[in-house]
Amino acid sequence: MVFISFIVLNLILALLYRTYCKLTYGINKCSRHLVGKVVIVTGSSSGIGYETAKDLAERGARVILACINDLHGNKARDQIISESGNQDVHYRQLDLASFDSVRRFAEEFIKTENRLDILINNAGVLVVDNVKTENGLFVGMQTNHFGPFLLTKLLLPLIKSSAPSRIINVTSIAYSKGIIDFNNLNLEKETSQSYSKMQAYKNSKLCNVLMTTELARRLEGTGVTANCLHPGFVKTDILNPDKLPFSKYWLPFASFFIKTPREGAQTSIYLAVSPEVENVTGCYFADCQVKTLTETGRNTELARRLWEESEKIIAKK
Ligand SMILES: *[C@@H]1O[C@H](CO)[C@@H](O)[C@H](O)[C@H]1NC(C)=O
Ligand SMILES: *[C@@H]1O[C@H](CO)[C@@H](O)[C@H](O)[C@H]1NC(C)=O
Repeated sequence: MVFISFIVLNLILALLYRTYCKLTYGINKCSRHLVGKVVIVTGSSSGIGYETAKDLAERGARVILACINDLHGNKARDQIISESGNQDVHYRQLDLASFDSVRRFAEEFIKTENRLDILINNAGVLVVDNVKTENGLFVGMQTNHFGPFLLTKLLLPLIKSSAPSRIINVTSIAYSKGIIDFNNLNLEKETSQSYSKMQAYKNSKLCNVLMTTELARRLEGTGVTANCLHPGFVKTDILNPDKLPFSKYWLPFASFFIKTPREGAQTSIYLAVSPEVENVTGCYFADCQVKTLTETGRNTELARRLWEESEKIIAKK
């Protein structure tokens, strides 16, 4: 009897906690339309990227889904067109782990589009093995940092000429545990024993934060804003139970509390559309609110140097 009461009590507590979570998640309340605006969302064939792209399509934007897989990309496009009723949704292939692919994508884009109002660097990988790309960089670092860095750089002239425009980077609260070691930026020095998948993720997410800081500084006065965000803990394919460094039994349990992709997309959408943030740049957001960065995240000297080192690394390839 005591045991049953204990279970029931826990279930009630869990439900209350879940309700509390759901009520405190930041929700974008701005209903602004985006007719005439051109948007890129990377990694938009599923999860947060998909929900973000769909919402922006519903607002009438011309939406480009930049995804790695033709099959998934085309399927997402068809689905968004049918759900939003907006025909102006397109898929273009982009593999952030290949500099050739990034260059091809950007060249093609600049040739065929005459503006870019909103760039959402959403794509990312969580846990990947210590494997190198065709460019000799580690997959995790290239997909999460060097690839989007190059993409943003190549598209910047078009973004500037479309000002006021916005660049939005999806990072993660995991950035606060990231480490920047300029002698080991690409984790070259890790052996297969010392390489930690989670550490690689944290480092790459700290890079995103620092790049936002530096990009915002470089873009001062151009009418282009650059902000980054933590989407929250969201149930998407990135949480692959086979690859996570903790028990797979944790996932169904946690899924009860964590955000749905639609909830996870709210801060990206807010930063893309809200007039409240039209003059806000270089900030870190979560739940549609500005949050304070850690000391490392705010370190402008570190940010400047990371930019320069990253430029050297992409120039060599
Ligand atoms: C987003 O992150 C990428 C990769 O780190 C970087 O190149 C780009 O400048 C960043 N953009 C913003 C707005 O922070
Ligand atoms: C942003 O800046 C412009 C120009 O200075 C100003 O007119 C506008 O009211 C500002 N918007 C907000 C939300 O502060």
